[in-house]
Amino acid sequence: MKLTELDSELEKNQLSGFWKTRVPSHSSEAPYLWKWEPLLDGLLKASETIGIEQAERRAIRLVSPHLPIKSTSHTLQFTFSIVNPGEVARAHRHNMAAIRFVVQGKGAYTAVDGEKFPMEEGDLILTPNWTWHDHHNESEDPIIWLDGLDGPLIQSLNVLFFEDYEKDEQPITRQTGESLNRLGFARSPKENKDHLRGVPFRYAWKETYKALKTMSDGDRDPYEGALLRYVNPVTAGFTYPTMSCEIQLFKAKEKTKSHRHTSTALYHVFKGRGRTAVGEGHLEWKQGDSFVIPLWQWHSHENLADDESILFSINDRPVMEGLQLYREEAEN
Ligand SMILES: [Fe+2]
Ligand SMILES: [Fe+2]
Repeated sequence: MKLTELDSELEKNQLSGFWKTRVPSHSSEAPYLWKWEPLLDGLLKASETIGIEQAERRAIRLVSPHLPIKSTSHTLQFTFSIVNPGEVARAHRHNMAAIRFVVQGKGAYTAVDGEKFPMEEGDLILTPNWTWHDHHNESEDPIIWLDGLDGPLIQSLNVLFFEDYEKDEQPITRQTGESLNRLGFARSPKENKDHLRGVPFRYAWKETYKALKTMSDGDRDPYEGALLRYVNPVTAGFTYPTMSCEIQLFKAKEKTKSHRHTSTALYHVFKGRGRTAVGEGHLEWKQGDSFVIPLWQWHSHENLADDESILFSINDRPVMEGLQLYREEAEN
């Protein structure tokens, strides 16, 4: 029998000979950068065009031109939301884990599982897998924040669950600041259980910035500058099982060494301007821009500002580590 005959016979029965398969390569994704100006323009226009009844859908997604799906990367996604004064984004929950990082504005809050979390510029608010959340803007001005989601990963696993709350808003059942008091540095030993999905939490920018500034030269990483992880306050592990949130500061004119790893990272420029070399090319960034560094591509950062530059980022390293797939290589 000829091999081609065997192949077509197998095919008729939904079978395929392994001799036809090549070893697949790891990634076809490419780096990409989204500039702030067209995104901000789109958000401001959306805030006029899309009414309050759709406020929770008024978000703009960053879409990589190098992917078969409409997403920022194959595992993680950035969207940006704008909420007008007096608006409420209706309560719901899903098993995608999400974060909000406040880019512009103040005087708003996100309610998560019965607690209000105030939103000021630079704050990070966690809405873990299956927690009720709704957003409120009680200030005079629109507020813009970045949503980071593990949605593409959850969807690729075909396991997405979503539920609307029976009313627009969930009841507030906890004091503001309660999560910090319960889960901060002094806490009941009973709190050590049931927090593996992550906890509703607010990392205030004031504290984050102080922590960054407290880092000494000895704490600096040759590949990352001064880098902090937003850890799960109970487990001290990654922010979520699916996503790590990080913030890093580069000193004026700082330049890092190059490395590569099997985690994918999405960055948002919170302050400053610089250049990130990725693979063969480089991305020039400034405040408000966002970019993706796909997995296993060599990259290094350079701060081009005369002052500090600050990058906020999310990555899927917890997934890679959990599945024993994390690997890293560094320039000597
Ligand atoms: Fe949501
Ligand atoms: Fe890296």
